[in-house]
Amino acid sequence: MTTNEPSRTQWLGRWGFVMAATGSAVGLGNIWKFPYMTGEYGGGAFVLVYLACILSVGVPVMMSEIAFGRRGRGSPVDAFRRLVTESGRSPLWSVLGWMAMLCGFMILCFYVVVAGWSFSYLWKMLSGSLAGSSVDDMAAIFGANNANPWNLGGWSTLVTVLTMVIVGKGVQGGIERSTSWMMPGMVVMLVIMIIYGMFSGGFADALTFLFAFNASELSSEGMLAAMGHAFFTLSLASGAILTYGSYLPKHASIGRTTLTVAVADTLVALMAGLAIFPAIFANGMQPDSGPGLIFMSLPLAFQAMPFGQLFGILFFIMLAMAALTSSISMVEATVSWLTDNAGISRRGASWSTGIVLWVISTLAMLSFNIGSDWTLLGMHFFDWLDYLTSRLMMPLGGLGMVLLAGFVLNKHVMRDELGLSPRVYALWLFMVRYVSPLGILVIFINALGVASV
Ligand code: PHE
Ligand code: NA
Repeated sequence: MTTNEPSRTQWLGRWGFVMAATGSAVGLGNIWKFPYMTGEYGGGAFVLVYLACILSVGVPVMMSEIAFGRRGRGSPVDAFRRLVTESGRSPLWSVLGWMAMLCGFMILCFYVVVAGWSFSYLWKMLSGSLAGSSVDDMAAIFGANNANPWNLGGWSTLVTVLTMVIVGKGVQGGIERSTSWMMPGMVVMLVIMIIYGMFSGGFADALTFLFAFNASELSSEGMLAAMGHAFFTLSLASGAILTYGSYLPKHASIGRTTLTVAVADTLVALMAGLAIFPAIFANGMQPDSGPGLIFMSLPLAFQAMPFGQLFGILFFIMLAMAALTSSISMVEATVSWLTDNAGISRRGASWSTGIVLWVISTLAMLSFNIGSDWTLLGMHFFDWLDYLTSRLMMPLGGLGMVLLAGFVLNKHVMRDELGLSPRVYALWLFMVRYVSPLGILVIFINALGVASV
């Protein structure tokens, strides 16, 4: 049981929450994962399903999670336990909290590896070592960067340490301050690259690829991937947004903050697509080249543009920052749970979490070198962490959350906490009761059906 109920820390204001939640949402998911998944699942059709999922599932779930966090005043485990107790429902529902907390931690275990790529490419940009490389060289450089476990592990260790240092400093000093200048910087960088892309010769192809809807490209696997990515990109069902919501002052509007975060996240993803795909098509690369996509394509664009090295450096600084403001949000649930329940300091909680994180993320990092043949059903440990969280835990956790919000908790709980106008509340209720659960179930069952044929 916690003793800090009356004095739980709070953001300095609504803006602090918006910044931190946007910092959590906008990350490698937008700039690294969204483009390469769009490439893998065929473009426009994937983008359309993704956008539909953001609207019909992502936004209602985010509103619910912020309300759960603020009402439950704690990490997902504590918040769900309080909420179901308050409504006199089965404590079994707090399984949702455990799953969310685990999910955030599992994501972090592979996220630090990708964040490590961003830092190592920043270093390559600074040292100028990518200059003059051809398309084939870029693939070889990406491969070589992965092949050496000391190199790759060094970078992911750096990310782990930085994450734990920021989290250890606490909500206002660490998290709020570091996010408030990162977002605008990222947007400026993307705009510059889009403008360059317009003149690079690949822009028309990029537009067609991203926005031309071709129903035959719409595999049920791709639909599940798009839905999972909607959860991932908005930091949902992983404890991050819920725990950040627990620091939200009572008077802040949940509806407006959710919309701000969702719109910002979606814009950054689409802008990243518009910045990256021109470089891919202009250089004759394949859009489906997988997780290395941005690291192989963007340096080519920087090479060709005026002041390319400078822009490249700025871009990878922004990418690294975007990664850090997300990674800190993934451990916040665990750290907050430990400080509230285990009687240890925030700093102690972040370092102990960091040690476990380091061990597991090192195993994920080894997927790219000495562990390259440790596979199960054809997937590495790194892939499994991604697959289990995005395709399974987040959609199912999200389903549980909308059912809890829509049917299980006493009706006045969510209504009071959300504080929406009657009409908007009715819309939210309709979404969490029918649209989101049915959407999740249909996509899920559809994908299972295909998998078993
Ligand atoms: N939303 C982050 C991104 O798009 C990833 C994330 C997932 C952050 C889950 C927190 C929790 O990069
Ligand atoms: Na995101």
